[in-house]
Amino acid sequence: ADQPAIVDQGRVTLPESTAAMDTRTRVIELQRIRERIREGPSAKATEGQRARRKLLVHERIELLLDPDSFVEIEGMRKHRATGFGMQERKPPGDGVLTGWGTVHGRTVFVYAHDFRVFGGSLGEAHAAKIHKVMDLAEAAGAPLISLNDGAGARIQEGVTALAGYGGIFRRNVRASGVIPQISVMLGPCAGGAAYSPALTDFVFMVRDIAQMFVTGPDVVEAVTGERVSHDGLGGADVHAASGVATFVHDDEESCLADVRYLVSLLPSNNREPAPRVQCPDRADRPSEALLDVVSADPTRAYDIRDVIVELVDDGEYLELHESWATSIVCALARIDGETVGLIANQPRSLAGALTIASSEKGARFVQLCDAFNIPLITLVDVPGFLPGTDQEHGGIIRHGAKLLYAYCNATVPRIQVILRKAYGGAYIVMDSRSIGSDLSFAWPTNEIAVMGAEGAANVIFRKEIAAATDPAAVRAARVDEYREQLMHPYYAAERGLVDDVIAPQETRSILARSLRMLRGKQAEFADRKHGNPPV
Ligand code: HXC
Repeated sequence: ADQPAIVDQGRVTLPESTAAMDTRTRVIELQRIRERIREGPSAKATEGQRARRKLLVHERIELLLDPDSFVEIEGMRKHRATGFGMQERKPPGDGVLTGWGTVHGRTVFVYAHDFRVFGGSLGEAHAAKIHKVMDLAEAAGAPLISLNDGAGARIQEGVTALAGYGGIFRRNVRASGVIPQISVMLGPCAGGAAYSPALTDFVFMVRDIAQMFVTGPDVVEAVTGERVSHDGLGGADVHAASGVATFVHDDEESCLADVRYLVSLLPSNNREPAPRVQCPDRADRPSEALLDVVSADPTRAYDIRDVIVELVDDGEYLELHESWATSIVCALARIDGETVGLIANQPRSLAGALTIASSEKGARFVQLCDAFNIPLITLVDVPGFLPGTDQEHGGIIRHGAKLLYAYCNATVPRIQVILRKAYGGAYIVMDSRSIGSDLSFAWPTNEIAVMGAEGAANVIFRKEIAAATDPAAVRAARVDEYREQLMHPYYAAERGLVDDVIAPQETRSILARSLRMLRGKQAEFADRKHGNPPV
């Protein structure tokens, strides 16, 4: 204890007389070394982190994990680079903390950049630490959470840094659909630090402090002449709208609290169901409010979230991609204590029409739920695919096919509830019986048809309307006729295309009973390497 370890710019140097120390003194020495490592490379670097209004890496881990559950590994590992002054700067840990801990008592693996060390940039040793923890997470079958605050490939280490990223990407893909992978963006993340999150299941970003870009503002200006700020190029709100960020928060505390909530909703791996909790909210609770939320008038908009709140336990849900592709809503929640994925058209945005972006958003969500054994509940109120040259020229055919492909491939329990409009291809795509939903229910307000009555009458009675002495009256009569004959759920119910017509207020109870019935669902596809989805 009289001869403390020296930590110079983060370098640990043991005193010469270590050999003479007894065990207790050596343990004290070890604690001292750990404390010094935790302090970071210098007080200035710590001040820098504070000046950027960011938490220190240990503080983040403490907020993320259950108290005292973090077990760090390779905290003393150092890089072996020699050029560009690296020989003189070998901070222990090499700018990343790796290890595991628990969230609500369940194991998760973590790696977290320390921006104080070379800007959290990734070199060979730094990458090897991440590879190790990724391999452990996959072997143990537990979620992997990365706390990203790093500048991408470490410039001084050249191609070995790039190879390090390659190893991360490969592992991200190998673990995809096996363990949940969650990326939390808490600093400026460039290059590889942005690409790895793109391969994971969820990306959290914190406003003002987190940015993601493939090439930073300096390079953008050099190449294109365009001047843009870090936030303007890749801030949290930019990526909430681009679809890169799944969740956006105002501060690190609320962000990490939501990461914990998300983990509680997910299984640890693809071989397990999501943890079931005791349902505090009666599964057969009637929801009278639903009688007023959805108007029978198909032109009246409403917020589909008002329906979701009524259906799920305690009205609690976690919405993904709230500000991207807003004509579809994707949310994780619980019904009768069981995690479910809700995917719903949003009449408040583009009347709920499917677009290029909303098809992509929906497809990815269906894939996520299917990979992690989360039953899918699809709430349908869809007028069709959004018409227009923008969408057609942008490849809506290809992108819409992604959603169709994802549903057709999904083997988890699938329940469709048609609230109101369900027209044409969009009806088929939104998990109709014909593409494999296990159960389909319709509210009495439902109109399943190839298209709306007005459009239908215009097409099939065009000649008759044109030849009539009073075209408007003939048209109105034909619209009524079409509506009466086809535009209600009973036509579909007669043909077995919906399993039952249900009252809105009994929906939660029917969903709970259906989910319970489908718990044992087993479905296998024929062997193949993989399909060829329209990506
Ligand atoms: C090594 C780096 C570094 C890097 C920053 N630092 N980037 N060290 N390699 N890539 C160091 C700085 O020298 C500085 O060290 C410390 O980190 C903090 O950096 P600052 O610039 O002072 O911080 P700030 O102003 O907050 O800006 C952060 C930043 C900026 C936006 C991240 O540093 C930046 O643009 N860096 C370059 C990012 C980049 O181009 N990375 C490569 C991406 S390519 P000292 O010692 O002074 O504290 C890539 C390849 C894989 O990742 C791609 C796969 C698709």
